[in-house]
Amino acid sequence: MEKREPYALFLEPDLRGILVELEAINKSYYVLNRNLLQAWISPGCWTMWISDTKEGVYDVHGFIVPPKLLHTPMVVKANGQVLDDFVYPIASAVDDRILPNSARQFGFAAKLDCAKLQFPECPVHFTCVSASGETFYPDHMDFWLLASSDPLPSTENMKRVGATAHGPFILDGSTFYAKLDVLSRRYLGQPLNDVGPILDWGVGCGKMVRYFPQNRRNYITGVDIDPVNIEWDTKHIAGINFAVIEKRPPTGLPSSHFELVYGNSVFTHLREPDQFLWLEELRRIVKPNGLALVTIHGTYSFALLGWSEAYSVLTLLKQGMRVAESYNPDLGELGKDIYYDVAHSHQYIAEQWSKYFEVVDILEGYTMGELAMVVLRKKPDSAHPVVAGEQNISGLSVESLRTLANMSYQHGEFAKAGDLYQKVCQMLPSDVESLVYQAECRFRQGHLTLGRLLFEEAIAKGANAPMTLKRLAELEGALT
Ligand SMILES: C[S@@+](CC[C@H](N)C(=O)[O-])C[C@H]1O[C@@H](n2cnc3c(N)ncnc32)[C@H](O)[C@@H]1O
Repeated sequence: MEKREPYALFLEPDLRGILVELEAINKSYYVLNRNLLQAWISPGCWTMWISDTKEGVYDVHGFIVPPKLLHTPMVVKANGQVLDDFVYPIASAVDDRILPNSARQFGFAAKLDCAKLQFPECPVHFTCVSASGETFYPDHMDFWLLASSDPLPSTENMKRVGATAHGPFILDGSTFYAKLDVLSRRYLGQPLNDVGPILDWGVGCGKMVRYFPQNRRNYITGVDIDPVNIEWDTKHIAGINFAVIEKRPPTGLPSSHFELVYGNSVFTHLREPDQFLWLEELRRIVKPNGLALVTIHGTYSFALLGWSEAYSVLTLLKQGMRVAESYNPDLGELGKDIYYDVAHSHQYIAEQWSKYFEVVDILEGYTMGELAMVVLRKKPDSAHPVVAGEQNISGLSVESLRTLANMSYQHGEFAKAGDLYQKVCQMLPSDVESLVYQAECRFRQGHLTLGRLLFEEAIAKGANAPMTLKRLAELEGALT
């Protein structure tokens, strides 16, 4: 597979331009949505799922969207052979989302006989090609089945990460692991087994780490905010370092330590303030020139998951992020104030995330056909505006300044944090929360009168009076 140019898959160079054009010619939002979704999905993609195995035979199903949505006979191969009993096209859940009124069918079904493929002794590599053998899809859309000697988690553990059955859990985990090797070779110039230390951020119940060979496991760390799954991982997946982390940084992990950090479906749940805090934390713990590989809901998610209602697409176009209320009941209290359904536009990632990392690529159709992989490389600190020094701070956005202020505060650097919160308040006078933090920082610096005045100003500007006064009283008790 030839190497893609950076940004080769950026499908939306000027979304806001398209919007203005469509509004100018009075096209309805329905037409706008449809045009955009079809444009976004038109490079094509495919995905597959497997059932739980019955006597060594898996039922396989999925969908195949041919490039440019053209009628094309397609097949799915396992280790070069077309799958048994392969049928395409048949009805699938995405048909109506891509082309309305059942105009086309994109589904396929087949069988996979493990004995014939000598699985689990031999790995299985799935590819999708045209019936005449042409390759349309990049290798980051392939699937793999690999063997692991670790036990599989229970349904209760899997539900905590949104998974329900062992078949998809195994296919998704093996595939993600195999693609880490593809990306490691492409972007770090070495096979995954030569890379380390590695962090699985949001490791859940070990869907990917269970494929690392024993002799590499002491280079691998898995962290999650979920103590239940971390306890399961620690008991069942030997040789890897697991730790519970807080919902918000810092993690306590060492700075500039990891050559590779990956996180599957974590940024798909975080709202913008938490996203910025975590981008900064990931940047802190990755080595200079190291990689962060994190998945997001991108444009394919809109086309394939049926989020095509006008409000969602317009939100994405205008704000760069679509945040919907969501809650995983299987996570109990843990998920309550952090669990959202979040999607990003490429343009937003390119503009906002590049304040933390070099955005090397966004690979649509990466996980289960619809999650996109964002490839991020840590710039050396000297090239990073947040840590490069005071002179560069003037160019930062309010979000970056606030993130930097929060970090300084968390590290007990109250003078620096106070100055940064002050800048935030100058740029955004309505941000009373930052004003309260600025007040606290001044207080902790020993500027008691100034601190009190700032607390009063915050209350006058609308900060919650009883809570703010309580905070002031606590500080006065502790510091005077
Ligand atoms: C959708 S699950 C994905 C789990 C795992 N990456 C996988 O692919 O199976 C999201 C995971 O992220 C964890 N999580 C949520 N917020 C987190 C955070 N801020 N830091 C680390 N993990 C987080 C959740 O507890 C959950 O295990």
